[in-house]
Amino acid sequence: MDLGFSGTVTDFYHRYRRGYPPAVVDTLARTLGLTANDTTADLGCGTGQLTLPIARRVRSVLGIDPEPDMLAHARNAAAEQGVTNVDWIVGADRDLPALLRDRPALGAVTIAQALHWMDPGRLLPELRPFLRAGGGIAAVTNGEPLWLQDNAWSRALRGVLESWLDTTLTNGCGTDAASQQHYRDLLTAAGFEVTPATVEYTGELGIEQLIGGVYSAFSATQLPSPEERPRFAERVRDALAPHAPFAEHVRVTMLIGRTHGSRPCTIDG
Ligand SMILES: C[S@@+](CC[C@H](N)C(=O)[O-])C[C@H]1O[C@@H](n2cnc3c(N)ncnc32)[C@H](O)[C@@H]1O
Repeated sequence: MDLGFSGTVTDFYHRYRRGYPPAVVDTLARTLGLTANDTTADLGCGTGQLTLPIARRVRSVLGIDPEPDMLAHARNAAAEQGVTNVDWIVGADRDLPALLRDRPALGAVTIAQALHWMDPGRLLPELRPFLRAGGGIAAVTNGEPLWLQDNAWSRALRGVLESWLDTTLTNGCGTDAASQQHYRDLLTAAGFEVTPATVEYTGELGIEQLIGGVYSAFSATQLPSPEERPRFAERVRDALAPHAPFAEHVRVTMLIGRTHGSRPCTIDG
């Protein structure tokens, strides 16, 4: 399967994609009632941005992603950080029933910035039998794409990208209100009690970080070649220079669905 998360794109993803602040992991652990005895799955785990901090809170994690190159970075990051309780598994949303069938029930399935790649209408009801009593699902987004934010530098970036790719860019990758409502409705229809939560923070990006972040979002076929990259980077620098510094407001959203009748509890409660 070629989703575009392969080759050099994954290097950029690993290096430049935002991680998740501790408040996000705290909120997930608390609301999902995760304990140190739990196993969770992180579906669409990518290079492990959410997998690794969750792994520090639970007994073990299944990090599942269809892209071997993403998993290779995740595996290296885990080794560098001394995280040893993650099984990295090549697989997609449709493979979950087969992957989970003979395993102990899960405390949670997290899906971070990845549900828009899946078939949530089929997936979410399918996951219920694999969750322990009181277990849940968290659909997480990690801020709007760099080129869709409501500020001058982001609009300038969108202009450069739309002209470079000769297209119009509108896809919020699951962060937009309509997608959030859709996911919430699907979780409810699948029998989950949904608690929405957000963590917001403001950060400042350097121009290299910004260009790296854009490269991380190209598919492998869209990524400018090494020879083209200086020209692309110059266009971005020229268009954005008048709008420095590049502050961004990041809104991490979580739709946390638990089985009915289960009460949130604390990690040590
Ligand atoms: C934008 S990345 C998110 C990675 C990571 N979870 C994060 O929060 O940064 C989306 C990930 O979803 C994976 N993905 C795409 N289609 C998928 C599918 N059908 N099932 C599971 N994962 C999928 C991609 O390979 C990629 O690693």
